[in-house]
Amino acid sequence: MRVKFTNFPKEFKLLRKDLNKKFNKIGIEGQYVLGEELKKFEKNISKMLKVKHVVGVGNWTEGTVMVLKALGYKKNDEIITVSNSFIATCGAIAYLGLIPKLVDVGDNLNIDVSKIQKLISKKTKAIMPVHLSGIPADLDKLKKISKKNKLHLIEDAAHAFGTKFKKNYIGTLGDVGIFSLHPRKSFHVLGDGGLIITNNSKLYKKILLMRNHGLRNRDLSVIWGTNSRLDNLQAGFGNIMLKKIFLWNKKQLDIAKTYSKNLSNYVKKPIFDLNISNPTFHQYIIRTKYRNSLKKYLHNNKIETAIHYPIPIHKQLAYKKQFGNLSLPNTEKFSKEILSLPINPHMKKSEVNFVIRKVNEFFKIKKK
Ligand SMILES: Cc1ncc(COP(=O)(O)O)c(C=O)c1O
Repeated sequence: MRVKFTNFPKEFKLLRKDLNKKFNKIGIEGQYVLGEELKKFEKNISKMLKVKHVVGVGNWTEGTVMVLKALGYKKNDEIITVSNSFIATCGAIAYLGLIPKLVDVGDNLNIDVSKIQKLISKKTKAIMPVHLSGIPADLDKLKKISKKNKLHLIEDAAHAFGTKFKKNYIGTLGDVGIFSLHPRKSFHVLGDGGLIITNNSKLYKKILLMRNHGLRNRDLSVIWGTNSRLDNLQAGFGNIMLKKIFLWNKKQLDIAKTYSKNLSNYVKKPIFDLNISNPTFHQYIIRTKYRNSLKKYLHNNKIETAIHYPIPIHKQLAYKKQFGNLSLPNTEKFSKEILSLPINPHMKKSEVNFVIRKVNEFFKIKKK
């Protein structure tokens, strides 16, 4: 048996008829940019996530750059975020000459809220938690800290479309949330894409202009902008994917529960509380000090795994100079222990059980 990490061909085949129909419809209409499908997509998301405003953009990274610019931050202003994330989390901040202030993570791999306060200075403008792998960061405490210090709360919701924290959807609890629609995300289109969601109408109006060169009409540009529009075609595909996402998120949660119940206790499993949230398990990340040999063992048994993320951002060559000797003990330790097991809504039960059997077998052999 071969267990793939993702299974795009299976997903495509499942939706092929609808996707082809949409492709033909958009082609015949000839609406490729800022068309009806995009409007429909934004409306659908707004209804689904119960948020006032949605803007479809080119990708998470461009979306976040626009958000930070629209919020009026200036060079050397500081944004508090984590190092245990994809490089883009800091890339978007650094792009505008802003300074990422990196906080360590707790055992659940999310921002350690107890370490935020001492990083706040006059230059701090926002906190940007990453809801890693679709498990929410502690939003109660994050909201409290941001309110007390008059900071914006910007949610890097790239992994967490459809996750709820208590009664509200991730991305709607802060001032603004940004999603990535990259194919590796649970909710995705057939290429790059991103979504900005907010209840702040002033911010919404600015972003709407910014994604299209600041143009109020065809000829008049009123503020700085760029080209970061979600393609009408991708939005059309997104409208089809949207019909499946809650079912697929639930399937992933079910797989995660099966993993958590049956995997050997020799591995540290994801920490989540179903009374507080419904994590969407964009990834299922375990921890073990035998990470590299387990990865190899699974590879030899034809099970694909991944590491999210093997090099913390403050240790990346691109940021080494900026962060110098910054020490984030958990982030650094975890980066050597974490392993993402295959999880996608198209996995068969037999594949999930095979992964469990092989992980447990590895530890049985290790014990001998
Ligand atoms: C946590 C996180 N933030 C941001 C991004 C960037 O998203 P995009 O590729 O849409 O710019 C990613 C993508 O992998 C991510 O995992």
